[in-house]
Amino acid sequence: MKPLIQKLTETFSPSGYETAIREVIRREVEPLADDLRVDALGNLIVRKGPSTGSGTAKGGKRIMLAAHMDEIGLIATHIDENGFVRFTGIGGIRPHALTGGRVRFVNGTAGVIGVERLTDPSKAPTLEQCFIDVGASSPKDCPVKVGDVCGFDRPFLDLGRRLVAKAMDDRIGCAVLIETLRALKSTPHELYFVFTTQEEVGLRGAHTAAFGVEPEIGLSVDVTGTGDTPKGSRMAVSLGKGPAVKVKDSGMLSDPRVVAWMCASAEKARLPYQREVLEGGTTDAMAMQVSRAGVPVGCLSIPSRYIHSPSEMVDYEDVQNAVKLLTALVSKPVEW
Ligand code: CO
Ligand code: ZN
Repeated sequence: MKPLIQKLTETFSPSGYETAIREVIRREVEPLADDLRVDALGNLIVRKGPSTGSGTAKGGKRIMLAAHMDEIGLIATHIDENGFVRFTGIGGIRPHALTGGRVRFVNGTAGVIGVERLTDPSKAPTLEQCFIDVGASSPKDCPVKVGDVCGFDRPFLDLGRRLVAKAMDDRIGCAVLIETLRALKSTPHELYFVFTTQEEVGLRGAHTAAFGVEPEIGLSVDVTGTGDTPKGSRMAVSLGKGPAVKVKDSGMLSDPRVVAWMCASAEKARLPYQREVLEGGTTDAMAMQVSRAGVPVGCLSIPSRYIHSPSEMVDYEDVQNAVKLLTALVSKPVEW
């Protein structure tokens, strides 16, 4: 699974520019799909199992599984008279993680992030104080124009059990969906594996995808924070203790029946799991929950350190256990 994770995380596709990552994922899932389509917002929607037309087997439900394809990035707001690119964020950018970093634009241009002289170097710079140097010396010879977008440029790093990459949020969720699709032998459900767009700017792809799919149950697969780093967040989730079953985040309360179903399935399959309450952040499950007349939802989270930095870290066993748990969940009828 590591080569797949490397391929997914090293692709550049900030929100709104998911073409490249969608093609990478399409090549993986096309041979495994019963049906595949791309909707107006660019969501890649893969059906597996009986369709409504052919009749769902006993105990079968229409289930939407969502992982977002997009990643956070930067967008050029203007080019100054000396050819430096000024920018703002696409998604939740943390300025203290920017300086010295490298970026790559969707058009291929590379650059480094510099910062103005700080009057108080003990404080993190603001986004307004940062700029991208692409080697230009005037707006005329600058290969970047207003509105061009870029992502962090950082290669995948394999530390053995721990894996580090940019865009682990949420390419690791995409990897879990792809591997679940591969591992799935049979299902009584009408399953929709949805690789969504524009999550980082407000769950926009999941909104339209859920409206189109009309699921009876929705599950997102995304990263969550941990409380296991020096003076980190106060949070009960750790790296390496299993995937997390979300109970609550700042945008959603999981349906208690979904939480119970997920926990019981993990126990039955003897898989480690953690219960998660995340105080800041949410996932595509929030968009699914309030779609149409409402959908019972939950979220399978991959514990991750340094989220929204160019070096997001996950535990490989957590990832593999997430695939096993998701496969167990959708292989059998839902009982509640
Ligand atoms: Co994110
Ligand atoms: Zn995410």
